[in-house]
Amino acid sequence: MQLWKGRFQKALSKTTNDFNSSISFDSRMYKEDIEGSIAHSKMLGECGIISKDEAEKIGEGLKSILNDIESGKLQIDMEAEDIHTFIEGELTARLGDTGKRLHTARSRNDQVAVDIKLYLKKQVDEITALVEALLLVICTKAEQYSETIMPGYTHLQRAQPITFGHHLLAYGEMLLRDLGRLSDCKKRMDVMPLGCGALAGTTYPIDRKITAELLDFEGITENSLDGVSDRDYCIELASALSIVMVHLSRFSEEIILWCSHEFKFIELDDAFSTGSSIMPQKKNPDIAELVRGKSGRVFGDLMGLLTVMKGIPLAYNKDMQEDKEAIFDAIDTVKMCLTAFTPMLDTMKVLPQNMRKAAAGGFINATDCADYLVKKGLPFRDAYKATGEIVALCIEKDLTLETLPIEEYKKICELFDEGVYEAIGLEKCAYERKSQGGPCPDNVKANVERIRTILENK
Ligand code: ARG
Repeated sequence: MQLWKGRFQKALSKTTNDFNSSISFDSRMYKEDIEGSIAHSKMLGECGIISKDEAEKIGEGLKSILNDIESGKLQIDMEAEDIHTFIEGELTARLGDTGKRLHTARSRNDQVAVDIKLYLKKQVDEITALVEALLLVICTKAEQYSETIMPGYTHLQRAQPITFGHHLLAYGEMLLRDLGRLSDCKKRMDVMPLGCGALAGTTYPIDRKITAELLDFEGITENSLDGVSDRDYCIELASALSIVMVHLSRFSEEIILWCSHEFKFIELDDAFSTGSSIMPQKKNPDIAELVRGKSGRVFGDLMGLLTVMKGIPLAYNKDMQEDKEAIFDAIDTVKMCLTAFTPMLDTMKVLPQNMRKAAAGGFINATDCADYLVKKGLPFRDAYKATGEIVALCIEKDLTLETLPIEEYKKICELFDEGVYEAIGLEKCAYERKSQGGPCPDNVKANVERIRTILENK
């Protein structure tokens, strides 16, 4: 059944109906559609546009539809054009003429916009909670491994020793920014479009403040054309979610590396890994790989939304129906990824000895060796050069900075003495990096507390 049959003489062809219909994906907004309609009918009643009695009957009718959908008594008709049509049709079937009054001073264009916003605001809250849960797991692990030495990398080459807690908290900072983006995006989304009508508002004496208050919106859209054709909030959310996925994907990549025999920094719990059907020895980090892979879907959703919107003249055009599958897919994917990733991280076994061994191997303390000479008065550039020569000598003699005899050190620079061995100790190198934002255990612990406090005070 279409709502707009009046001026048509022929029935819609099945292919057109199927092509045009959005019910297969917008039916998930049934609750928001009903909430929006209840608020709208109440406002119509308050403003005397329909009688209070009719408004009440409409409200009751809509609530009974909601109950029946949720209890399974009422099936959503997948032949309907969209969820708005289905619910209005059902209301009219139940209430007769009174049901037909619901759509006074409203269009599906402002209706769909309010439905999406109501739906997305809830989703932002759910995703925020999932990001916070991951952040708390990161904090627990960072605290536990605040003193664990590991190699820090640049170019995936061992660079300088850091603590594992510090490495984990880098992801903590990323997720904190994600939380900021999510809440910021929700703020801009929080303006109510009902009352924009099809594009040009309405001549009925509506009171949009009443509807906004009933639906718990912070504000009201100020331009009717923009109100019905704005989808920035979908794009912004898809963008914030894409950045979440960038972070999860980078983290996943590291987890995959750390699980390999080449690194062996961690081992994933059996419950969060899978095997191979042919190679009995395999234990694969499939969750991390899938998260890395699924990031592509979310970026695709963002690109899809940008492309759909970029050429649309004001105001509503049917192209915009394409918004929903993209943003819903982005939401579903991010929720699924976070739900799988967090317990995987929580249950991973950390292998500090292997991390330390990797840190001890490759002249990772060369900067500290140079800094040792600087502290003895040599300009950094000269100290850097002398240390470079020492590294070359070690390579030639198949020794490390720890095992090169002091006489050899002295041959390259007189300022060296036995104290150098203490200065290049891995713990010393990592723990003395106390500059703000550095990897020393106290900084890690302080940042864990800082993040926990931020989350507690939200
Ligand atoms: N299913 C439509 C959508 O998702 C609802 C709005 C329809 N408006 C219209 N003028 N055809 O965008």
